[in-house]
Amino acid sequence: MNLPPFLLDHWLAAHEFATPSIRYNLAASTGPKWSVDELLALGGGASIGNVKIGYAPPEGGTRLREAIGGFLGVDPDWVVVTTGASEALLILLCLAARPGANVVLPAPAFSPFAVMAEAWGLGVRAYTLSRDDGFCQRAGAVVGAADARTVLALVNTPHNPAGSVMPRDEIRTLAENFAERGVPLIVDEVYHPLYFGRQSPTAADIPNAIVMGDMSKALSLAGLRLGWLVIADAALRKRAVDARGYFTISSSPILEELAVHALTNHQVLLERLSAVASANLSALTDFMERVSHIVSWARPEGGTVAFPWFNDRRDSRPFCQALAAQGVLIAPGDCFGMPAHFRIGFAAQAEGFEDALAIFEQVLRQPTAP
Ligand SMILES: Cc1ncc(COP(=O)(O)O)c(C=O)c1O
Repeated sequence: MNLPPFLLDHWLAAHEFATPSIRYNLAASTGPKWSVDELLALGGGASIGNVKIGYAPPEGGTRLREAIGGFLGVDPDWVVVTTGASEALLILLCLAARPGANVVLPAPAFSPFAVMAEAWGLGVRAYTLSRDDGFCQRAGAVVGAADARTVLALVNTPHNPAGSVMPRDEIRTLAENFAERGVPLIVDEVYHPLYFGRQSPTAADIPNAIVMGDMSKALSLAGLRLGWLVIADAALRKRAVDARGYFTISSSPILEELAVHALTNHQVLLERLSAVASANLSALTDFMERVSHIVSWARPEGGTVAFPWFNDRRDSRPFCQALAAQGVLIAPGDCFGMPAHFRIGFAAQAEGFEDALAIFEQVLRQPTAP
């Protein structure tokens, strides 16, 4: 099977993981990084020295499932631990795959949604998020993209790359509508609970919704490679655990232990993320105002990223390259199939965000800006 190149990863690999690494990383969609020592010091301290390094149960250890259930306010029995939300996605696509079937997905979106669906032989029917409508995901548009062969539908809220938030009532209406067709609704809420303005509860308790979440984004611990599915339907959950066993057997108990500790102290993690994201979003809002004759945006309602665009619709990649040469990394919109846009992450850079924006503005205002 030929998978298309993962453009975003190529871009990040060339700059973020280069030696030396880029000075200001505004391309990441994660929060400020934590070291193991910083994490273990939280809440009076913890140690992982006694953890036995065997397999964990395929559905995740009981303590971790309880911690995730407590974090979301749902029955821990509904929780299936996965290797990031990435594996959660693979599991759901694998279980839904059958000849001629299709899945309804947003566009633009996190590119693995469509690539992995196609890899499992599923057709993709996209509903378009319009920048003129603030990139809203509307129940009517999602339903409108489905047909008689649709076996799954997905919404992503807060959304990557646009930062739009789908209201709970709208998700509930959508889940009910798909329930009548026997189609589960996946709600990818890896950026939950980071909202600017109105807070939104998890969709995990909405009938016919299957929630995907993780430790990577709002909890800022991407290196734990842990995520979850919340599935109320016991039969489907059992199949998901089997799939998980086949794919990766289990998580590392070392990382599960760190995740339990992190979830026990989630308030501290979320407070740090929220402080960095809110301050940087405020600086970004001022910046966007200053340069509104060159670029426009829909201000994010949640999550860690925004998806502005060049008013003259030029391809952003040459500009992103010129900016990277000055030490500031943003991500070209072609990574999301929309070349005139770029993605800017405002939650990872705990320090220096305003310095990075000053460089950004300088490059943007150059008469010869690409
Ligand atoms: C919307 C969305 N879903 C899922 C993922 C997968 O993340 P992870 O595998 O780290 O949980 C990402 C990562 O960027 C994402 O943006």
